[in-house]
Order: sequence, then C-alpha cells, then structure tokens
Amino acid sequence: MVQELGDALPHQAHPSGRVRSFDLVAAEAELPVAGQEHLRVWAYNGQVPGPTLRVRLGDTVRVNFTNRLPQETTIHWHGVRVPNGMDGVPHLTQPPVQPGEHFVYEFTPKDAGTFWFHPHVRSSEQVERGLYGVLVVEDESPPPYSQDVVWVLDDWMLDETGQIFPQFNTPHDLAHDGRWGNTITVNGRTDGVLVARPGERIRLRLVNSANGRVFKPDLGALSAEVVAVDGLYARAPFPYAGFELAPGNRLDLDIQIPSASIVPVMVVDRFYPPLPHALATVRVEGEPVAPASFPSPAHASVPRWKEGLALPVTKQFRLNARRGGPLGLEWTINDQAFAGHDHDAPPALTLSRDRFAHLQFTNESFRLHPIHIHGMFFRLLARNGAAVDEPFFRDTVLVHAKETVDIGVVPEDVGRWMMHCHILEHAEAGMMTTVAVVP
Ligand code: C2O
Ligand code: CU
Repeated sequence: MVQELGDALPHQAHPSGRVRSFDLVAAEAELPVAGQEHLRVWAYNGQVPGPTLRVRLGDTVRVNFTNRLPQETTIHWHGVRVPNGMDGVPHLTQPPVQPGEHFVYEFTPKDAGTFWFHPHVRSSEQVERGLYGVLVVEDESPPPYSQDVVWVLDDWMLDETGQIFPQFNTPHDLAHDGRWGNTITVNGRTDGVLVARPGERIRLRLVNSANGRVFKPDLGALSAEVVAVDGLYARAPFPYAGFELAPGNRLDLDIQIPSASIVPVMVVDRFYPPLPHALATVRVEGEPVAPASFPSPAHASVPRWKEGLALPVTKQFRLNARRGGPLGLEWTINDQAFAGHDHDAPPALTLSRDRFAHLQFTNESFRLHPIHIHGMFFRLLARNGAAVDEPFFRDTVLVHAKETVDIGVVPEDVGRWMMHCHILEHAEAGMMTTVAVVP
C-alpha cells in the first residue's frame, strides 16, 4: 500500500526561497452581500469571500493575521498539509488569537491546488458571518487556461430585516443538517455572472464554504471535466456528471466553452431535486478565441489500494447523536462528544507515518456527516461495503444517513490533527475528535 502511494503526497515541501506575505485582518464590516445593500458581516480584509491568496508551489506563505473581531479566533488552512503548529486549531496547535492580537501563519505548501481558510473557533458562527477565503497554490508551471476562476458557494440565513439571523446552533440546526440558509450565493452574490468568449477553456474552482448545505452543481449545456478534488489532481480527467460538494469540499473543473455563441447557461444546484436553486450564470459573448489544446493537468499518481478494503479495519467510528450537553443535543463519535477542554485528552486514534490505515465510518443517524480529517488525504474504498475506486484523494467525505464508508490513508505529516464533521453545528455540538500521527 505504501509502495503504491509512491510520491503522490510529497514528504517535504520544496521551498524556492520566495516568500509571499499577506496581511489579513478579521473585522466587522457592512457589505453588499447576499442581495442586501448593507449586510453586517464579519470579513477578512473587508471582503466576503475574503481575498483569494494566490501563490506558486514552492512559495512560502506568510500571513500576518490581526484579529479585530469581538471574539477570539484562529485561521485553519483547510486541506493544506501545514506543520502542525500552523493548523489553526485553538488549544491543540495554538492559543486562540484574542481580540486585538496578532498571529503569523507561515508554511510552504507541499501540494498545488485549491484550498480555503476559515476560523476554527466558534466556526458555526464565524464562518456563517462571512469569514472564509481561498488559497490557490498554482503549479510550478500552470496550464494555460484562458481564465482561472474561483466560485465560493455559500448560503445565508437572513431574517426579516435582511440581516444575518443572529441565533446560532439552534435546536433546529442541531437536529438537522446544520444551518441551511434561505439565500444562496456564489462569491457573495445572488446574481453572479461569468463572462466567457466562445472557444475559451476555463479552470473553474468550486469551494463549498456553507455551514451545512451540500451542493450538486448542474452546468446545463456546458461540458466539463473534473481535474481535481479537494485540491489534488485526479489520476485522469473524467467527465463531470454532478458531484456532491459537501461543506469543505473543492472541485476543479476544466470547462470547454463551445466555439459558437450559446444562450446564457444557468448553473443550478440539484442536491435536493426536483427544485433547482440558481447559483450563477455563464454568458458566452464576444469574439471567439482559438481553441486551446493542451494536455489536462490531471495525471496524478493516485493509488487504487484494491486490497485495502480486505485489510482489517484499523478503527471504526460510529456517528450518532444523543440528548444532553450545553446545547441540548450532542453529536458523538463513538459515543464521545468533544468539548473545548478535550484538546488535552488522549487522541481517539494514533497512526504511524507512512503506514496504511483502514478507517470505517458508520453513520448510525439519519443526518448527513461530511467527515473531514486535518493534515492528511485519504481515498474512499467503499460505500456500504461496495468497493469504490474514486480516481482521486479527498480530505472530506460525505457520509449519508445510515451509510458506512471505508477509507484508506497513509499519513505523511506528523502531529495532532482534528477529525470532525464539517457541518459546523454538528462539530460545535461535539462531532470532533483528534487523530495523532507519530513518526
Ligand atoms: Cu475546514 Cu477543521 O476544517
Ligand atoms: Cu455531521
């Protein structure tokens, strides 16, 4: 298994020596977001989504962070294999950043791809209020797409005054799939438009930053190939035919715009059929461009791990809920609900670096649980016992109601990593634990 992994997940970063510094400030703001003229949000650098930080593989990212929020916070670099101390988990990897304080995050990404960042303190409130941004790590020589576009998908629960509904972790949110809003946005807008010329070849990077909502984007008449999932390139490009983009997930699409003009394409969400929700519009206009033929960047070595499913389960995790706890309902992993002070508790699981592990998640509940593990990428091996060979790694996998999911992983990065449901209300209500990776 380890041999089959090869160097798919490089052990080391290869710093080129170039340091890219960014200043990031989290603060309250009033912005034209979610169809409102003056939505009171919490924002990175006064923007929702926050800035897209674009670097090259080999660059060292240095983020001078300042917290001007009325609460403590941290920044977690979702999907980036950072040194453990840069992972932004309060109490576990750093003390929370108090209001008025600073923290410097510095790391050299080991993988190119689409990543995102968000707070890891009271995230069901802080992310919902607008704190998230995208980190794009470009290849050493990026493929010549005519446009490289980021779409951050989110939803907002607005109240009758048109502001963010100020109650978080409500009994309803907890008992269901988290907080599903009444207003869906792409890059903060309800009326987003991507303008393309005929013949363009576009890289579209989708990020789901919603607290709980799963999206299944339908591109209508546009044809696309998937080139990367959760940041990392796939084994080979494959036709896009819908994908359950759960909170935390990313998807990179290679879109070939037709060479003739077409009517505007409505991109809609179809996770809950039959009612499609509008996401954004792609408008094709202007002078055609010569079609770009370059090889797809998707040709990663992704292990099949065919024998993985037959290997004994290293650890099973049962996902469930029970009454009780500070919020009235607790979400549990193996009957444990995580509470703040549990960061000092022994990890739920200790794995060895460079050793294959077979993990199993059994959803004993009727709700959705997109399970995210920090600091590692894994491969889906089976759903409900039936082998699945997804040609890509993930850092987040959606476990449906009553479903059992098997994954294989060879951790490469030592540290104490969080594992949690990325429905942020479920995580706040206890569905979190830690996994240690030791040399
Ligand atoms: Cu995107 Cu622990 O989170
Ligand atoms: Cu969950």
